[in-house]
Amino acid sequence: MKLILATNNKGKVKEFKEILSPLGFEVVSQSDAGIDIEVEETGTTFEENAVLKAKAVYDISKTYVIADDSGLEVDALDKKPGIYSARYEELQTPHERNVRILDQLDGVSDENRTARFVCTICLIRDNGKVQTVRGTCEGRIGYKEKGTNGFGYDPIFIYGDRTLAEMTDEEKNSISHRGNAIKELLKII
Ligand code: IMP
Repeated sequence: MKLILATNNKGKVKEFKEILSPLGFEVVSQSDAGIDIEVEETGTTFEENAVLKAKAVYDISKTYVIADDSGLEVDALDKKPGIYSARYEELQTPHERNVRILDQLDGVSDENRTARFVCTICLIRDNGKVQTVRGTCEGRIGYKEKGTNGFGYDPIFIYGDRTLAEMTDEEKNSISHRGNAIKELLKII
């Protein structure tokens, strides 16, 4: 069964391929499927945005489609950056976004630095049935960037006693929001 990933992010394609190919799915990226669209993320929740992205591809392909939407919620910032994680306050680089969050948390105590990564995955089956699953990773925001692995907000997000950027890929996948969402997806697919 052909399954299209509604993303052109190579890292995500690799991760989903590794997990879904053994289940008998021929996993292809949106661009490999010849679908050249950029979907505007106009939803107000991770779920809405994942569904928007999956539906746009399903409308063209009519086969199994998966799309995901993810981001960081910082409790002391009213769950910002949330769905705006990729473009927080129009800042251009991950480093600038990390520094902005650290600045905004200046003076905030340890116990109030709680945060979580959220990942929602939308699955649309070949018959058009739409389902969403969600995975989270609970942690807290540190006081400076630490570590060089991963991407995005990983250097400021502490899980246990290390940032996600200080973990190997395997360690991160085993506890991450995306890893947890994929576990939920495997229960329903
Ligand atoms: P999207 O799901 O590709 O739209 O990603 C949203 C944004 O959330 C990314 O650009 C990152 O800034 C952030 N993000 C999502 N997942 C992670 C993660 O695992 N580590 C660090 N940042 C993440």
